Amino acid sequence: MLKSIIKGTGHFVPENVVTNEDLAKRMSTTDEWITERTGIKERHHRANRNDSEITTAYLGCKASEMAMKNAAITAQEIDHIIFATLSSDYFFPGNGVLLQEMLGCRTIGALDVRNQCSGFVYAMSVANAFIKSGLYKNILVVGAEIHSFGLDFSDAGRGISVIFGDGAGAVVLSASEDENAGDILAVNLHSEGKYAEELCTKFPGSKFGWSDRMHLEPEAVTDHEIYPIMNGNFVFKHAVTRFPETIAEALADAGKSVEDLDLFIPHQANLRISQFVQQKLGLPDEKVFNNIQKYGNTTAASIPLALSEAVEQGRLKRGDLLCMSAFGSGFTWGSVLLNY
Ligand code: UT7
Repeated sequence: MLKSIIKGTGHFVPENVVTNEDLAKRMSTTDEWITERTGIKERHHRANRNDSEITTAYLGCKASEMAMKNAAITAQEIDHIIFATLSSDYFFPGNGVLLQEMLGCRTIGALDVRNQCSGFVYAMSVANAFIKSGLYKNILVVGAEIHSFGLDFSDAGRGISVIFGDGAGAVVLSASEDENAGDILAVNLHSEGKYAEELCTKFPGSKFGWSDRMHLEPEAVTDHEIYPIMNGNFVFKHAVTRFPETIAEALADAGKSVEDLDLFIPHQANLRISQFVQQKLGLPDEKVFNNIQKYGNTTAASIPLALSEAVEQGRLKRGDLLCMSAFGSGFTWGSVLLNY
């Protein structure tokens, strides 16, 4: 029986730190408001908003290099790439192929996942199925985002722009037949598309006639269409319901209980959401990993970025039972429960 093991983890963020005070110079907000509502103190944004080198694929490449180094394998040994992002370098093609080229991999398959905040959980579930079927042995699973190029930093966008940051995380997921090795024990994925417009970016989309409108009536394209929009309260309420559901489902599927968990890594959407879920599950602080304070919400990157830091800081050890869960745009949500 093939097992899926996390052989190596990595992460990378652009150098430039943007504090809440920095944002307060650009829009009507305060450190107090952001800290109280979200727990975020700072985030990383690439220094030049229009940089064409420090791209989402570049961040993903740096995180992947670290993950491969920690896994002690080379780019030649990677036999598949799965790249989760909502901020790809091009509208198409996706970022998987760009990473294949940047890393100098063989002409392996490169799949893109577009499930926003749940992107990494969806990507891991696909990688797990590929490994368990025997199709691939070493899969690079990446979550990366450059949000800073596409946010509205005027007052109109303050409810959303203060939350998001740039960053990347990566995992080498490998096949193992070692009876002592860890394994992915349970996965669940969910969606509810009727809420698509509660958290979305509309442009460029086939529903919005983008080419004609950009060329013939560019002034009619509104900020509301170009920038991400979010019904924050509505998303928050659904998140705090769906997180406990998906975690309970994963634990039940694996025949485990909350007490068995060694570490819970929630998608870093809002510290208040993580704390609410922690309280609902009755988990002590040392069993929940949060780093949103330093990075903000990095969407598909948030879980692998937290995972890599948790490993680095010794918060996650071999043999530990780990649950990673996400909720976000779509709506989509889900969990991966594994023995690390
Ligand atoms: O990762 C994907 C999933 N995303 C999430 O899970 C995010 C879920 N939602 C949230 O985290 C929260 O809803 C937010 C942090 C986005 C917003 O917090 P909130 O407590 O829901 O605030 P609100 O939108 O209800 O706004 C409260 C007030 C409003 O003013 P009035 O109408 O009460 O006078 C806003 O205009 O706060 C105002 N406001 C701000 N004030 C200072 C909104 N944004 C800001 C800001 N600074 N940045």
